Amino acid sequence: MLNAFIIIELAFALAAFILLFFINAPYGRYVRKGWGPAIPARFGWMIMELPAFVVIGCLVLANIPKAGAYGLFFLVMWETHYFYRVFVYPFLLTSPGKPFPLILVVFALCFNTINGAANGLALVDKGYFYAETGWMAVPRFWAGILLFTTGFVIHAHSDRVLRTLRRRGEGEYLVPHGGLFRRVSSPNYLGEMVEWTGFAIATWSLAGLAFALFTIANLLPRAISNHRWYRRTFADYPKERKILLPFVW
Ligand SMILES: NC(=O)c1ccc[n+]([C@@H]2O[C@H](COP(=O)([O-])OP(=O)(O)OC[C@H]3O[C@@H](n4cnc5c(N)ncnc54)[C@H](OP(=O)(O)O)[C@@H]3O)[C@@H](O)[C@H]2O)c1
Repeated sequence: MLNAFIIIELAFALAAFILLFFINAPYGRYVRKGWGPAIPARFGWMIMELPAFVVIGCLVLANIPKAGAYGLFFLVMWETHYFYRVFVYPFLLTSPGKPFPLILVVFALCFNTINGAANGLALVDKGYFYAETGWMAVPRFWAGILLFTTGFVIHAHSDRVLRTLRRRGEGEYLVPHGGLFRRVSSPNYLGEMVEWTGFAIATWSLAGLAFALFTIANLLPRAISNHRWYRRTFADYPKERKILLPFVW
């Protein structure tokens, strides 16, 4: 079952990566007609992210004797991110009523259910395997924790910069400044990619790796579109600002 979920996730990642170079997912600045019924963005974000919070929690908590300290530790890490995404981020949105196509909510809901299940099963399996070994006593664990924490801080801080900007622009899009926006156009995406890469390294699991790859496949094409959109929209957009990798690309 775990392997099947991982293969499905990788298939989702490949499909998203190819498709998103041709079509911008129709939400936020790319929202447009022709994508069927829509719901308010706040509910969209909450509903579609919720399974990632619930499914993994149920799986690990129902199998605590197997998952052990390893499973619980990484569950807390995972839930920190998803608590923010499900119960904090949607309530801070500055345009909560913006239409969010139902089709995207359904797609993300399916993915998040599979992803939560895959990572939950992996934590239970690995927790059992690592029960007697020092899973914290390896450099990759600490490297992963460092990446995850740094990524989360970048992600949440960049979301905050955008919120402040939106309030200042009274609903309009403006050129963001501050934090990593000085260097790249989509630091919120960069933060999320770094976070899940860190999780994959720290857990050393294929399910973690599949999610990190999906996040990159999903957000990288959108980061390119956002960068082009900023350059098209604002004549004074900082020329030195890169797409996603400070000073590089
Ligand atoms: N793991 C994954 O695969 C995945 C997938 C998708 C998203 N996410 C995460 O979900 C979060 C939101 O994603 P997103 O694609 O909606 O990010 P986004 O396009 O950067 O938008 C984030 C928020 O900031 C507002 N905003 C963006 N640019 C603005 C500007 N120049 N001026 C004023 N307001 C601006 C947006 O308003 P509008 O809604 O009006 O544009 C939205 O409320 C991100 O942190 C991302 O990492 C993760």
